[in-house]
Amino acid sequence: MVILGAGPAGLVLGNILLDRGIDCVVLERAERAHVQTRARAGFLAAHTVRVLERHGLADGLLRNGQTHHTCEFRTKDGRFRLDYSGLGLGEPHTVYPQQALVTDLVTRFLARGGQLRFGTEVLAVHDADGERPEVAVREADGRPGRWRARYVAGCDGRHGAARHSLPPGTTRHHRDLGITWLGLLADAPPSMDAVGYAAHDRGFAGHMARTSDITRYYLQCAPGTPADAWSEERIWDELDLRMGADKYGALHRGRILQRSVVELASDVLEPLRHGALFLAGDAAALISPSAAKGANLAVLEAELLAHGLIDELTTGNTDGLDGYSARCLTHIWRAQEFSHWMIRLLHGPSGTDGDALFHNSLRRARLTSLRTTRSQQDWFAEHYVGV
Ligand code: APR
Repeated sequence: MVILGAGPAGLVLGNILLDRGIDCVVLERAERAHVQTRARAGFLAAHTVRVLERHGLADGLLRNGQTHHTCEFRTKDGRFRLDYSGLGLGEPHTVYPQQALVTDLVTRFLARGGQLRFGTEVLAVHDADGERPEVAVREADGRPGRWRARYVAGCDGRHGAARHSLPPGTTRHHRDLGITWLGLLADAPPSMDAVGYAAHDRGFAGHMARTSDITRYYLQCAPGTPADAWSEERIWDELDLRMGADKYGALHRGRILQRSVVELASDVLEPLRHGALFLAGDAAALISPSAAKGANLAVLEAELLAHGLIDELTTGNTDGLDGYSARCLTHIWRAQEFSHWMIRLLHGPSGTDGDALFHNSLRRARLTSLRTTRSQQDWFAEHYVGV
């Protein structure tokens, strides 16, 4: 088994297979230090925690993760809070920085003798439809190399080699949302005890605690804005303005440690299997960060694929592998639908939305319904935390 990519999808898959004595190698382009310090997501659904616990991969997050129960919406009509763990399925989120989770997964995989080749760039997957697909790589020392395997898992993200090695017959459904976020990691304690969403006329702003000293912020900006375009002072002033600091208190400020510009886009590949090649995580579908579903889908898909592979390799039963694509796509499309609902709720009209007044009136009605209607709140909680 060759796994492309050492992100949540590849590492969860590799650990589950290794646990069952199935020989696998993970090929990762980046160096270990980069993989273990790259700040990405950090919002784990209850199902994700259960999967990690089931496979002995949750020690770090159970020790250091923070449980979150509430989110807060701030709009021109005021603010309201939803205790989502008391609604819907009654489940909380666990906040645990992805770099910490990936570090745990790498450490455990290596501690059990797993083969993880850092600095190894996968160039292509050949003969994916055949019996013995071949993975062409550039080894860490720059030499060309080839890995052959019974199965290949493409867990190398949206720009990885797996997506570029798919045989004809793949459909890519996609939507560019015309919305750009400035993603910020601030050396500042969280400014509220909840995930904060500001739906402001000037644009969206988001607040997500990462640890007691580090906070993730998102600031909607004009498409094409360079990551370094705004001074730190301008960033904090704009965040304060959109978060209603004049009414609810100023945000805790600090140095901006990391910046990135995120063009919100979504896509889904169908099918997710081509012969011996399977896609999981961002390689399978890209989902906007508006509902923090990416890493949770990656873990869910990794477990489904692992179970299918284990069944086939140990008993010859191929049901799990044959049904892998359809099962994942059901979860992916539900997550995409909720993620797009959140995007429409939190952002003003973008290019494809037509009349601004109509769009903003819909938003206001949705926010009012979310603030006042229990059944809508239950629906929100179930989708917000679930995958
Ligand atoms: N060769 C080898 N490794 C590669 C290649 C390549 N050609 N291309 C990409 N990679 C590696 C990247 O360096 C990265 O470590 O594949 C890994 C993909 O990891 P992620 O992008 O984290 O993707 P995934 O595991 O699917 O997790 C998806 O987690 O990052 C969060 O929320 C984010 O939705 C995302 C989710």
